Amino acid sequence: MNWITNTMGASIGKKLMMALTGMGFMIFLTAHLVGNLNLYIGKDAFNAYAEGLQKLGPVLRLFEAGLILFAVVHILTGSWLFYQNWQARPQRYQVNKSAGGRTIGSGTMPYTGFVILLFVILHLFNFTFVDKTNTTVFDIVLSKFSNPLYVLVYIAAMAVVAIHVSHGFWSAFQSLGLNHSKYMPLIMVLSIVFAVVVGIGFGFLPVYITLQA
Ligand code: HEM
Repeated sequence: MNWITNTMGASIGKKLMMALTGMGFMIFLTAHLVGNLNLYIGKDAFNAYAEGLQKLGPVLRLFEAGLILFAVVHILTGSWLFYQNWQARPQRYQVNKSAGGRTIGSGTMPYTGFVILLFVILHLFNFTFVDKTNTTVFDIVLSKFSNPLYVLVYIAAMAVVAIHVSHGFWSAFQSLGLNHSKYMPLIMVLSIVFAVVVGIGFGFLPVYITLQA
């Protein structure tokens, strides 16, 4: 117990929590994107996929509880790290100035993270907390993206998600100590590839749905 409180109290423990929960989200994003690719196939394929998910019953509920737990840990730990950095900002400024290597992703993590939180809340109200009697999940998606404002909001949100994961991906490897100098260039390339796949993969869906409607 003492070990747990000591580790969590230390900055490295917090980074470890951010990395583990962040990796969990990246696995979720990959699975969600693969599932959403059914939208490209058509209405029946996507509805069959959504129904298949619901049929998982308790397994799906357990998975959702895990997502909520991960979100709480990621948000609270991230906010605490942000607060600590903010308190130490005069030093941080000097460190950043000389360290170099700051990217748009690394410099904006707390802000992009906050925007993603707002997006996920909106997203859940769009597609999850809705009355699904006498309609299908495909029709709900179609009706939401018939509003150009939602299309724009979703595309902008996907750009923010891409920026967030472009740093989160390789940073998670680093925090977990998997940053061997031999593999780091590959991990950096993979983080850009992952960000682009997530950004375009999700971001093109609202456009495609609009073009089909
Ligand atoms: C154009 C992009 C996206 C579309 C069209 C989309 C579509 C959907 C749909 C239709 C559902 C409800 C499925 C159902 O109830 O059967 C859903 C759930 C969800 N989506 Fe997305 N999604 C997109 C992007 C994202 C992104 C980028 C994230 C995370 C940052 C995300 C997070 C979630 C979460 C957390 C749920 C609830 C999962 C659950 O309750 O099991 N989605 N999405």
